[in-house]
Amino acid sequence: MSAILLTGASGFIGRALAARLAADGHRLRLALRSPSSGKLPDAGIFRFAGLDGNTDWREALAGIEIVVHCAARAHIMKESAADPLGAFRRCNADASAHLARQAALAGVRRLIFVSTAKVWGEQTPPGQPFTVDTVPAPVDPYAISKLEAENALRASGAGGGMEMVIVRPPLVYGPGVKANFLRLMQWIARGRPVPVVDAGCRRSLVARDNLVDLLARCVDHPRAANQILPVSDGEDLPMPVLLRQLGEALGKPARMIPVPAWLLKSGARLLGRQAMADRLCASLQIDIGHTRRLLDWSPPLSVSEALARTAADFLAHCRT
Ligand SMILES: NC(=O)c1ccc[n+]([C@@H]2O[C@H](COP(=O)([O-])OP(=O)(O)OC[C@H]3O[C@@H](n4cnc5c(N)ncnc54)[C@H](OP(=O)(O)O)[C@@H]3O)[C@@H](O)[C@H]2O)c1
Repeated sequence: MSAILLTGASGFIGRALAARLAADGHRLRLALRSPSSGKLPDAGIFRFAGLDGNTDWREALAGIEIVVHCAARAHIMKESAADPLGAFRRCNADASAHLARQAALAGVRRLIFVSTAKVWGEQTPPGQPFTVDTVPAPVDPYAISKLEAENALRASGAGGGMEMVIVRPPLVYGPGVKANFLRLMQWIARGRPVPVVDAGCRRSLVARDNLVDLLARCVDHPRAANQILPVSDGEDLPMPVLLRQLGEALGKPARMIPVPAWLLKSGARLLGRQAMADRLCASLQIDIGHTRRLLDWSPPLSVSEALARTAADFLAHCRT
């Protein structure tokens, strides 16, 4: 069992990861910038002001063997920063590099970084998923800052012998999910039509429980050291199948309306939702063969089980 410092423990992924790591018997210290509104496992708490290049992490890192760095500026639905790339860089790249330098100095053995599949880009051609060897081509400021963080982390670990593990998840869903996945469930639950552009389009997703299971394995698996690990549910369903399963889980059949790509894109442009339209029109697939083979790991939950858990939580909390 290890002494672990976890950042981002108040977030959607971090909260579930904290519970899992505590259940696995690890000794946890949680780095939080604000008092947590929900229940967290019994753990030491380190309070810090915010993600930047100035935090003094020495007290938080004392006696720590593993750092899991989950906190990030992410899911910004309405950007208010005058310089979005600068804001993402400060919170994601600069702060991560700073944490890694101090972790290496403190003798931390391994740092696990929750990155994003968006560092590879926003879409894949049919039958050509992103693999561990795909050259990164991030598009938006968030993804650019995450790739810069990865590069800085690798550089900071290399000299001091600290192992680095980089995990690249696509969109994560599960009970309590917010943002676009929540909107999609609300849309279906209200019986509104969902546009389907290309019935063959497939997108890799990852259930939070599957991601958490992989992160828990990364804590102590010797072969995770200094690896980039693609992750997904390992089942990339065509969009209509995914929507049908989600509708069934919500007890409300998804009303799918075939729409030509040009129509959806021009409508979305008028509404300022171009990125969302692009996601509905294109595939984004991830090949997780490297992660499966290296760590002898398989996602424990199937997509249908994970959708059922997500929808059950949605219905239980009346989030329609
Ligand atoms: N969810 C996804 O679909 C997805 C996909 C790929 C990668 N990821 C990555 O997974 C990680 C966790 O994401 P999530 O979905 O759990 O996000 P989340 O629910 O928004 O949680 C983000 C966490 O980061 C903390 N945080 C954000 N900005 C901060 C700042 N300026 N200073 C200090 N702490 C800050 C938050 O603390 P507060 O509670 O104080 O705000 C929270 O604990 C992130 O690194 C994200 O990039 C997520």
